Amino acid sequence: MNDSNIVLVGFMGTGKSSVGRLISAMLAYEFVDTDELIAKRAGAPVSEIFAEQGEETFRDLETEVLSSLSGDRRRVIATGGGAVLREENRSILRDLGFVALLTASEDVIYRRVRRSTHRPLLRTSNPREVIRKRLRERTPLYQAAAHWSFDTTDIPRDVVAEAVLTAEAEHFA
Ligand code: S3P
Repeated sequence: MNDSNIVLVGFMGTGKSSVGRLISAMLAYEFVDTDELIAKRAGAPVSEIFAEQGEETFRDLETEVLSSLSGDRRRVIATGGGAVLREENRSILRDLGFVALLTASEDVIYRRVRRSTHRPLLRTSNPREVIRKRLRERTPLYQAAAHWSFDTTDIPRDVVAEAVLTAEAEHFA
């Protein structure tokens, strides 16, 4: 049986962590959230790293954490929304396993994240504009990183999880 990792990429609020947890339970794979690993490594929450050390330091930690996962098998890896920004990261992600891109409409993303307090990039007077701009910039990068993509708008997370598993099986068939 294929025991490769499943890597979830996509914008904030597309369900990477919640779908990832579900898939890990379905497969009895370990669940890994790169933001959690970054926070552990830095000894501070992501929002504090952004506020006190800046986005570049966070991105360096993100690259370190992604590299540290290589060689692992049978993991479901949920990445942060900006994990695809660096070319180096996109290559690491594809080496880690099957890369599934979860997407959602701008409206749905805004609805899902607008009350979130732990997302530093959205602590701004106009989060909607930040979402629109970053989505536009990142869409080609997500597509370059992913083996497959799925629009989660209005789709229950168990259906999304099943779709990822089917696509992964087909990818390795
Ligand atoms: C980020 C997304 C966040 C987190 C950090 C930066 C981004 O992860 O990595 O706040 O650049 O889009 P989620 O996508 O899990 O919210």
